[in-house]
Amino acid sequence: MSEYPEHIWRRARELRETIELHNYNYYSLDAPTIPDAEYDELFRELQELERHYPELVTPDSPTQRIGAAALKEFSKVHHRTPMLSLGNAFSAAEVEAFDRRVRQTLGTDEVEYAVEPKFDGLAISLCYEKGVLATGATRGDGYIGEDVTRNLRTIRAIPLRLQPNRDNTAVPAFMEVRGEVLMLRSDFEKLNRQQREKNEREFINPRNAAAGSLRQLDPGITASRRLTFFAYGIGACEGGDLPHDKQNHVMDYLESLKFPVMRERDTVLGVAGLLEYHGKISGMREQLAYEIDGAVYKVNDLAQQEKLGFVSRAPRFAIAHKFPAQEATTQVLGITVHVGRTGALTPVARLRPVFVGGVTVTNATLHNEDEIRRKDVMIGDSVIVRRAGDVIPEVVAVQKEKRSADARFFAMPTHCPVCGSKAVRLPGEALTRCTGGLFCPAQRKQSILHFASRRAMNIRGLGDKLVDHLVDRAIIETPADLYKLDATAVAALERMAEKSARNIVNAIEKSKDTTLARIIYSLGIRNVGETTARDLARHFGRLDRLMAANAESLQQVGDVGPVVAQSITSFFNEAHNVEVIRQLRARGVHWQESEDTGQTKAGLSPHKGFDADKVAGKTFVLTGSLPNLSREDARDRIESAGGKVTGSVSRNTDYVVTGVDPGSKYDKAVELGIAILDEAGLLQLLQNSQADSRLDSRLIPSLNP
Ligand code: IVH
Repeated sequence: MSEYPEHIWRRARELRETIELHNYNYYSLDAPTIPDAEYDELFRELQELERHYPELVTPDSPTQRIGAAALKEFSKVHHRTPMLSLGNAFSAAEVEAFDRRVRQTLGTDEVEYAVEPKFDGLAISLCYEKGVLATGATRGDGYIGEDVTRNLRTIRAIPLRLQPNRDNTAVPAFMEVRGEVLMLRSDFEKLNRQQREKNEREFINPRNAAAGSLRQLDPGITASRRLTFFAYGIGACEGGDLPHDKQNHVMDYLESLKFPVMRERDTVLGVAGLLEYHGKISGMREQLAYEIDGAVYKVNDLAQQEKLGFVSRAPRFAIAHKFPAQEATTQVLGITVHVGRTGALTPVARLRPVFVGGVTVTNATLHNEDEIRRKDVMIGDSVIVRRAGDVIPEVVAVQKEKRSADARFFAMPTHCPVCGSKAVRLPGEALTRCTGGLFCPAQRKQSILHFASRRAMNIRGLGDKLVDHLVDRAIIETPADLYKLDATAVAALERMAEKSARNIVNAIEKSKDTTLARIIYSLGIRNVGETTARDLARHFGRLDRLMAANAESLQQVGDVGPVVAQSITSFFNEAHNVEVIRQLRARGVHWQESEDTGQTKAGLSPHKGFDADKVAGKTFVLTGSLPNLSREDARDRIESAGGKVTGSVSRNTDYVVTGVDPGSKYDKAVELGIAILDEAGLLQLLQNSQADSRLDSRLIPSLNP
């Protein structure tokens, strides 16, 4: 009789089989079908079961080894010292438990730790013989890896020959350097752009891209992919002057041998130091040029490390403190269409709720029709969802092998789902738009919400539920109608307490006293974000003057190109827009207007009160193709002036540079009120930039001053 119930035995067998399958997909095929976090969870569940019922442990359990067998095509390499894995912690409590175990084993009160980012790439081992790179291998199963030397040689970050260090002492006769191969986010985005252009499969994330690029039988392909490397440790070593005291000195030694090492490493004391570092590194995560998925804590004293030793799969002296996973799988329950302020129809995947990036996600944007086709998303599909930082959750890939026969195709509606007006997609545009304008209640609601938003008229308490009620019951139609509301009318709405009704009416009253820049921004003119609104206010000084301006005089304002000028003139050509402005004034909305008739000088207007330097340290997003500069050119110029180019628009974006056919990023920038530049505006900004063009664009904030 076994000591464990039958269903436990079954579950353990199922877990072993599933994990082995995922190992094969991940390690041998480079084609993972589940996110790492889910794999980790399966692994942990099996470990838990085996801990409770040790009789369940079989010699072939995945817990008894590290990875999966090497691919046939590459020759095998025995690692002189095994490449181990790290235990994981996901919470402060688990970090505390780790520190407690360490202190108990060592019999000390406080432990010093070397702390580092946890790179989200691929572990490799580099063997140097008499200072020359002899072999480089993947981790494989931890004991035997694949010989990818030819591919590793293509990575410029990896030294082919060790230079004697500063003191001119000897290089080791033999040394295994351990580290991580990665793809920088910028190179990943570039690669996926190229894949798209070639109509080839895109990579899910930089780690998959790095893995796919390193394990190529043709080193030419690897070379074209731009990988990078960071060293984080040393395996076997003979000769040389490897420090034998502290982990951080080992890192300094690697650095002196010209290996790339992370700048963000540090040493800290005790659990408080560990958690503080975790906070710091998670705060700079989105700014790093590469992806990390946590922090690694290592007991700094090497003698103490030795005393702590290893458990089967990982050292006892180190642990990975992981961030909440940014990717998870879930199911698309349906696809609905959201109507934005400018009438853009955005398909949104309604998801089975899933915890990802630290929050429960129920919706993810599918951007537009082309994206749905490209990713081949169908209703009912299992999908990988990603939520990074404060970026809107996104469907990154479909797990097609899981598609069931009743998965349903989604077609963009031909009519607006809210007002029934025709929906059109203009040639060359990715977006489908409702043609209903302010007739469309969805656009009306969005324009009222925009009008009331914090950076516009800042009417506190006017949320979407209330606006829904007010518009649905035809109590208000335009933003100007807000100034007709009284507390009794608002309080008459369901679920509205008298006090909050009064608060809202007071907030509306208070908003009457505003500025010209805010009123311009509040109108919700397409393509006029907060910054452009400020520039326009400064340039024209009076609303009437702006309303009367033609396209030519509008383009005298820095950052205003033909597209923005066109949006402004069409807006003021609409009689009902002019009427809303008249009503706003009539109902007491007022702002200061300038007396003089003069205008600021043509060209770049003093730029929105930004700091002296307009490029260094600023974040740019490029969208659409620029008339003269290639994307790479634009990126290079921005980066060499000290700016940063990222792939998606968020509140942290400073500028969005748009060209012909801008995508959804453009709309997002407008929504968020982010400064929008065209190519000429960008060039002017670069010219005015005081940045030292020799600045290393990849300067990474350092924790070690
Ligand atoms: S030390 C014996 N340091 O994490 C411990 N590993 O789960 C050896 N990794 O396969 C690892 N960043 O690829 C170490 N700063 C870092 C790391 C790091 C990423 C990876 C490594 C390893 C995995 C362990």
